[in-house]
Amino acid sequence: MSTAQREISTEQQVQTFLAEPRKMLINGQWVDSASGKTFQTFNPATGSILAEVAEGDREDINRAVAAARAAFDGGPWRRMTPSERGRAIWKLADLIEQHTEEFALLETLDNGKPLTISRAADVPLAVDLFRYMAGWATKVEGQTIPISVPYTPGAQYLAYTIREPIGVVGQIIPWNFPLLMAAWKLGPALATGCTIVLKPAEQTPLTALKLGELIAEAGIPDGVVNIVPGFGETAGASLAAHPDVDKVAFTGSTEVGRLIVQAAAGNLKKVTLELGGKSPNVVFKDANLERAIPGAASAIFFNHGQCCCAGSRLYVEQSVFDQVTEGIAEQAQKIKVGSGLDPATQMGPLVSDEQLNRVCGYLESGVAEGARTLAGGKKIGDAGYFVEPTVLVDTQPQMKVVREEIFGPVVVATPFKEPEEVLPVANDTIYGLAAGIWTRDIGKAHRLANELRAGTVWINCYNIFDAAMPFGGYKQSGWGREMGKEALELYTEVKAVCANLE
Ligand code: NAI
Ligand code: MG
Repeated sequence: MSTAQREISTEQQVQTFLAEPRKMLINGQWVDSASGKTFQTFNPATGSILAEVAEGDREDINRAVAAARAAFDGGPWRRMTPSERGRAIWKLADLIEQHTEEFALLETLDNGKPLTISRAADVPLAVDLFRYMAGWATKVEGQTIPISVPYTPGAQYLAYTIREPIGVVGQIIPWNFPLLMAAWKLGPALATGCTIVLKPAEQTPLTALKLGELIAEAGIPDGVVNIVPGFGETAGASLAAHPDVDKVAFTGSTEVGRLIVQAAAGNLKKVTLELGGKSPNVVFKDANLERAIPGAASAIFFNHGQCCCAGSRLYVEQSVFDQVTEGIAEQAQKIKVGSGLDPATQMGPLVSDEQLNRVCGYLESGVAEGARTLAGGKKIGDAGYFVEPTVLVDTQPQMKVVREEIFGPVVVATPFKEPEEVLPVANDTIYGLAAGIWTRDIGKAHRLANELRAGTVWINCYNIFDAAMPFGGYKQSGWGREMGKEALELYTEVKAVCANLE
């Protein structure tokens, strides 16, 4: 098949997918919502309706949790060997890879990001995450523990731990990397043998629903993965509060993270949270500026700044401040903003009208508080949710644009005089998700990496992710970690077994 033919058939497949109202996946069946209600998902490049989707609410969550509970307690999932479970997860990765073009196109239509990025980053990263986690299914091990027990002199024991799946998990994900966030959440839960109710973001439910179509084909039994699209205040809140859910894993705003903690208090379910950020990116005068300038631009502009780890606070050593900020401003002005379907596009629209208004509100507040716009600063056009990549200078530490997460392509730049000055300002935030350091002095780089209060520190690079590398936040950026071996631990309970050997 030629490339052109393949593109036509992908487009036809996606059109067929969009033409029917999308249902929810409960116990292996595609069903309408209990209320019969649907909601619409939009193409952010045009503002037009893409598809109708079943709108889940409390009753649907109840049904999905009951299915997940039955699959956990009595279903074939618990009787499958770790090797069989691993093979099913690997098969799921293969199936996603085989449908790369459809996933990429759906992601671009629903989220707005350039098709080149969906195809090169979102889909392959999701595939790789499942493969990485497939390998762990056979390696979730306990330990043997030499114990002493001072009050039973002479007694001998065999003590060991078992890591068991935590049970039924509720997973609530955002819209910035819809398929990849589903993978980050589902991967470790499946590898450890949990069962799942996943709620995608209302802005971008489509790729998670497409993923749902591959679950049975991968050999994952009915009820293990349930997918209920719907809104946060209804479906999301019911899932977080549900008394029969053992753990809730959430990615999104810090504000909703707090609501999740409150909702989880009812049955004291375990909680992991991956929340907001206002990550510092520090450029020293001894950095390779030819790399640092495009690196710092991409740290904030990648995915239109809709990254929880975006390098949104730029600190630059005084003597190179103008050179670096003007270099980033020049990069910003060169970025081609447009529809994600146009192969020339480097930055697509923001995900929604709401997000556009939020970002524009910050742009206005920055200027009102006295910041100067070196590049960008405005909304683009009237159709779709486009905004200019923006560089703000002359900022002060108390400005809203410096303190609050904007979640758009807006960087605030501040100079510093002495290297020792930068640590306290870099750490002066309620968040602690990520940080960047650009320097040729490796001692300085690692000293600063030690002192930064952030879950990920990138040195002479930014936005480098791998399924094996844990990701998550200090302070109000969250609880726990995603990816890596750390994520698996958060989907298990540890059982200590002690046997008297007499
Ligand atoms: P949000 O936190 O409201 O939405 C994220 C997810 O939580 C969605 O699936 C939503 O349906 C769900 N949700 C919302 N309210 C809920 C509730 N009461 N109970 C349970 N689930 C609920 O984020 P939103 O409104 O889309 O974006 C607002 C801001 O949040 C952004 O501007 C950005 O600053 C931040 N954000 C951070 C993300 C991250 O990756 N850490 C991702 C998305 C947003
Ligand atoms: Mg919200």
